[in-house]
Amino acid sequence: MNSREENAMHTHAEGAARIGIGDLRGEIVGIDTRVPLLDGTEKPYVYLDNAASTPVLRGVLRAVEEFLPWYSGVHRGTGFKSVLATGIFDAAHDAVGRFVGADLARNTVVFTKNTTECVNKLSNRFCFGPGDVVITTMMEHHSNDLPWRKNARVVHIGITPDGHPDLEAMKRAIAREKGKLRLVALSGASNITGLCAPVHEIASWAHAAGARIFMDAAQLAPHRAIDMLGDDDPRHIDFLALSAHKMYAPFGTGALVGPKEFFEEGDPDQVGGGVVDIVTLDRAVWNRPPHKEEAGSPNVIGGVALAAAAGILSSVGMEAIAAHEQEILSYGYAKLKKIKGLALYGPTDNLEEKVGVMAFNVTGMHHSLVAAILGVEGGIGVRDGCFCAHPYVKELLHVSPEDERVFTAEVISGNKSHMPGMVRASLGCYNTRGDIDALAEMLERVVKGDYAGTYVQDPASGAFHARGYEVDFSRYCSLATRPVQGREHSEAS
Ligand code: ALA
Repeated sequence: MNSREENAMHTHAEGAARIGIGDLRGEIVGIDTRVPLLDGTEKPYVYLDNAASTPVLRGVLRAVEEFLPWYSGVHRGTGFKSVLATGIFDAAHDAVGRFVGADLARNTVVFTKNTTECVNKLSNRFCFGPGDVVITTMMEHHSNDLPWRKNARVVHIGITPDGHPDLEAMKRAIAREKGKLRLVALSGASNITGLCAPVHEIASWAHAAGARIFMDAAQLAPHRAIDMLGDDDPRHIDFLALSAHKMYAPFGTGALVGPKEFFEEGDPDQVGGGVVDIVTLDRAVWNRPPHKEEAGSPNVIGGVALAAAAGILSSVGMEAIAAHEQEILSYGYAKLKKIKGLALYGPTDNLEEKVGVMAFNVTGMHHSLVAAILGVEGGIGVRDGCFCAHPYVKELLHVSPEDERVFTAEVISGNKSHMPGMVRASLGCYNTRGDIDALAEMLERVVKGDYAGTYVQDPASGAFHARGYEVDFSRYCSLATRPVQGREHSEAS
């Protein structure tokens, strides 16, 4: 039995009914939620922004509800609930490790709040010395770039014209930096093109050069089976991070998996309660990992939810999920390719090398305008902009250095109107051909100019708002206490 089958078995042992790929849509909380359109009607929301965050699975919610009466502080309390909750929380770590094929005798699973926190923690824990090098790629999310820049010298590997990391350049850089190279850090799948890098092959190059490899699996874990492989295998993944909110368990947890011996060395990056065995006025003796790395009272509910999600996905089968998403993706591209006036980014064939993300633009239209029309006239949720991966998007769009200089200066002065970008539709395991039909139908209208609203851009955010689209959000959710018009961003997205 492999570790994923073991996870699935644990899920059944916990009483969950076996669900198949065809049941997943009905398992999504809020799948039939109706949203208001500009013309005053309502329609069921079509959610195609799963790369940003996924909705919650009913089974995850059930696990949380079952756990809540037993919720208690963990690791420190002596009462029944505390002991029981501690056992469940500790087991949740193992479930996540099994989900990614980690050898739990030699590796630990540290819970954080998300992938970004995992990468920051790992970067801090590497204790890089002067001249130490991290190789990453131009394909990365800022989370797998900026934390390395903070602590090491970063070499960015360029991309090929279709958006893949340039593997020949990667090989050359690994050979060139040997001796100084500590880590190769790359995404398992891109959040923009969905492209999957050959991480195991790159791992063998990194290991041969005496370095380690980190995979940002945020965009891969919900879509493909992952196997970190045994620690003695030259192709194994040393470190891996993922986020529960992209795995149908949005309760605020991320997981960082890596060798116990690595985390046993050195000081934790955050200190306080829980990380110590003993403290005197001049000394602290650290606890063992993962406790050493989980300072403060942990997010127990988030951990339970993530483990439940891993169990459900394993039980459905990652192969079945991958096959379903591939089918919808290939249907999606067949439809989008027929729409004249759409520019598609990244490969649109050879889909087995990518997860279900489709990035595009409507020729001659601002990406935020297209996204706004899809939202208020089509009831379709997508994301637009640069997707927290500015260097990659600028490469894919062939932005000239002069244009970059101009809009960078504008953004710095508070005007995001001309920030380049794309529109992105991203799939989850529950999306259907019907969702793609809804997207394609609206895009057909958009390219023909067949939309009703008058849209006005807000220079501060770059977002477009439809005149007259004023919704009382509290009619939809009583928690909404103030109207929200469009997006409020702290960065150029
Ligand atoms: N990284 C997430 C995205 O791509 C937030 O949308």
